[in-house]
Amino acid sequence: MLTEKFITLGITGGIAAYKAAELASTLTQAGAEVHVIMTRAAQKFIRPITFQALTGQPVHTAMFTRLTGWRVAHVDLATRSDLIVIVPATANILGKLAHGIADDLLSTTLLAATCLVLLCPAMNTGMYQNPIVQANINRLKELGYCIIEPATGWLACGQEGPGRLPALDLIFNQIKDLLIKISDWQGLTVMVTAGGTKEPLDPIRHISNRSSGKMGYALARAALKRGAQVILISAPTGMSPPAGAKVIWVERAREMYEQVLTHASKADVVFKAAAVADYSPRFTANQKIKKKDEVYLLELEKTPDILFELGQRKQPHQILVGFAAETENLEENARRKLAQKNLDLIVANDVTQPGSEFGQDTNIVKIIYPDGKIISLPQMEKTVLAHHILDLVLPLRLKK
Ligand code: PMT
Repeated sequence: MLTEKFITLGITGGIAAYKAAELASTLTQAGAEVHVIMTRAAQKFIRPITFQALTGQPVHTAMFTRLTGWRVAHVDLATRSDLIVIVPATANILGKLAHGIADDLLSTTLLAATCLVLLCPAMNTGMYQNPIVQANINRLKELGYCIIEPATGWLACGQEGPGRLPALDLIFNQIKDLLIKISDWQGLTVMVTAGGTKEPLDPIRHISNRSSGKMGYALARAALKRGAQVILISAPTGMSPPAGAKVIWVERAREMYEQVLTHASKADVVFKAAAVADYSPRFTANQKIKKKDEVYLLELEKTPDILFELGQRKQPHQILVGFAAETENLEENARRKLAQKNLDLIVANDVTQPGSEFGQDTNIVKIIYPDGKIISLPQMEKTVLAHHILDLVLPLRLKK
């Protein structure tokens, strides 16, 4: 089932480390080549020989081991891995990863890796609920790491609460799902637009909106992780774009229009997650506009509707996915945009609803098809939603 899959299993120093032995065995029996990295603390809980016996592979514990072909261990494991799984993931490894600290074999491998990484936190409830740990977990989710929430129950420290390692069959199923998804977008070129455009009034002022770019970046990251080539056309955001994407920065709707149309013919799938200004100041002052009259009248002109243009020029193999950010009549407005812009799918979000506002880590969406079918998804992280959207779009692309 997992034949030809290379999995690096990282074990860190928590009491649940002993459970990782069963997981190592299950993955090996399923056909995966499993390489175990143990931190120093993990070796206090369970010995490397156990994993060596269960996986039939040497266990990696030291940073400066030279492998065949002169490749150092962390680079070798990082580049060969289809998936890295950390079981259990302690507060320490989560903190190190969230802040780019690389001081042992496991943390350096994680930083060098570009493959999917699944983290399975397990720790004392107090530690898990500590705002610092929660902030690290949120940051990691934002960066595209997959995280399985810990289970709630009896903990080795004698307390009851969230912090238990989830059931191993749940972790195993998640690993299988992730491995299947690793290359299902391979060979496809995806264009994503993200962020809110800025329409300048003068050298220091602009009109914009509250889009953070999180939804678009999550889509770009998910597509990259699943093997697609990604062209990300991004309005300014406060975030680093995903590594591996071809990033084109724009500010104004007009610039986004030009860049999207320049690159559109290369794209098999376009996700228009950007919040594009519908109107832009007719004139941009060369100097700062001075305060004078009580009322200042601003003349605005319509920007080009980029998605509408794409819909007009859609090639037979292309899939166009639009977004609809609405504050009222969500379905009705989204359906109208779907038809007007000749889209294959529209993702509709009510941006006044708590949990789906601009800038949030989560979203609540309805996915609407041209035949009227609607899939309503519950509130979820944008990083998770991005994968749901990719799951729904792929069959449309295969039908073309
Ligand atoms: O960035 P985040 O903070 O994560 O927030 C995510 C989001 C709310 C911005 C995102 O989920 C979303 O809904 N993006 C689309 C926002 C928007 O501009 O919607 P709209 O209903 O005004 O436009 C409909 C579609 O036409 C969109 O795909 C938009 O990109 C596109 N459009 C709009 C105007 C224009 N001139 N050109 C366009 O291509």
